[in-house]
Amino acid sequence: MGHAISQSLMILALAAGALPAGAQAEAVSSSFDAAVAVETAGAGPVIDPNIYGQFVEHLGRGVYEGIWVGPDSPIPNVRGIRSDVVAALRKVKIPVIRWPGGCFADGYHWADGVGPASRRPKAINAAWDKSPETNAFGTHEYMDFLGQIDAKAFVSVNVGSGSVREADDWMRYMTAPADSQPGQARASNGHVEPWQVPFVGVGNESWGCGGNMTADSYAAAFRHYAAFLRSYSGERAQLIAVGADSDDYDWTDRVMAQAMKWRPNPTPLAYTTDRPLMWGLSLHFYTFAGNDWRKKGRNVGFGMAEWASSLARANHVDELIRGHAAIMDKYDPEKRVALAVDEWGAWFQSEKDAPSQLYLESTLRDAVIAGLSLNIFNRHADRVRMANLAQMVNVIQSLILTDGAKMMVTPTYHVFDLYKVHQGAALIPTEVQAPDYVEGDTRLPGLSVSASKDRSGKLHLTIVNLDPRRSSNLRLTLKGGVWRQANAQTLTADRVDTRVRFDAPDPFQPRRLPVLVSRGEVSLKIASKSVTLVEIAP
Ligand code: AHR
Repeated sequence: MGHAISQSLMILALAAGALPAGAQAEAVSSSFDAAVAVETAGAGPVIDPNIYGQFVEHLGRGVYEGIWVGPDSPIPNVRGIRSDVVAALRKVKIPVIRWPGGCFADGYHWADGVGPASRRPKAINAAWDKSPETNAFGTHEYMDFLGQIDAKAFVSVNVGSGSVREADDWMRYMTAPADSQPGQARASNGHVEPWQVPFVGVGNESWGCGGNMTADSYAAAFRHYAAFLRSYSGERAQLIAVGADSDDYDWTDRVMAQAMKWRPNPTPLAYTTDRPLMWGLSLHFYTFAGNDWRKKGRNVGFGMAEWASSLARANHVDELIRGHAAIMDKYDPEKRVALAVDEWGAWFQSEKDAPSQLYLESTLRDAVIAGLSLNIFNRHADRVRMANLAQMVNVIQSLILTDGAKMMVTPTYHVFDLYKVHQGAALIPTEVQAPDYVEGDTRLPGLSVSASKDRSGKLHLTIVNLDPRRSSNLRLTLKGGVWRQANAQTLTADRVDTRVRFDAPDPFQPRRLPVLVSRGEVSLKIASKSVTLVEIAP
């Protein structure tokens, strides 16, 4: 299978790329042949369920309205947390939620968000437009929310404007036994038993909004915080250090070199083990059309050039992971430290609400970006053991959008729903042969694939067709084992910028796709610009 497309197709592609936005010529159709060889007996690393994690920040309508409506709201809720959102999130199996920010985290004082609601200070959200922050949603409400959707905690402590003392006090408040002073303070606010806090982010973007630090000054700060941050009961708190923005490899190198290990200690205390100081190192990477933060591109009504440049940027995270992982390998060849892509997603120009609210409508492009990104994270499961979509509800690339009492799920939500079968399954190797997708100067692999085998022995392949015009006649060759059954579901839409709307049927609801199983091969035809799940059983 070559990497070139035929000249006539190329001419069609270029001609369509020149059309104005909204006239993307999806009517031009053809198909390409592709093959995927699947090593069904090969067992790679387990795909950590936390790759399907989420990020929620006090920003726009992400928390207030998106999650929290208050106990007196006419919107159905349980203790103030909206029930429609909880039900939708339970369905997709959200493993972990990072909170309270983002840039908000380094201005957040947790003590403002506990105690009787009427006595919580009316604060200012300094990170986001100096908007009012009621503190109605604080630690107890976050933990209640996690309990309702059955997800784990990942709190980011305030390094930028807080202190080690404040962060340690928060850990004591959340995790100390009921008979201790912090435990009693927690009980007097309504929760007797300690909570589990398995993940603790030590600051956020400390190279920027979180403190304007150099890698060296952050490494020193991280070491200091790490000496004091721990759980006081239950699961051990695993620390996630602030990692690089995109391709800042120097940051990764310096932080790994200086902050991964305890100082050699002549009188080691119980907790100064040879375990790395950090469980994970983060990476933040956002997708927009092109590579200029100031020109992120239209969110709807975009043309083929923006489609292609957005997918090219999303695909770039593969190279970034390879680059950061290679540096981490130098200091941690055993891969004990995870790379946690704890902010990722599609971030285009906001066209609704105030721009600072970061509310985005959701289109087919988001689904394709999600499918592509998640396939990349899965394939790097040896090092990437957490990822958090920014941001779960009403902000940037969301799973859910609300408009007052109305709620709808996005195309990205459906992708997470299809891909949830990968959570905890073993990655299996695939080899893809497909022509590239070419748009002007942009050239990309036409298909993106990841595959896993779950504990019951079923195989799952998730396949993204990046080509907006051509469907694919796909042949899956299953090497090893006997495979007799297969089924597939797919998500696509008429146009690259088809969007989901309140009060209209959901055009992205995945539908069944016919598959043919014969002598170790599965054949199917996948649509252009689509995300597909194939399930194969013995
Ligand atoms: O997700 C929005 C913002 O993007 C976060 O607050 C910050 O961490 C990042 O720059």
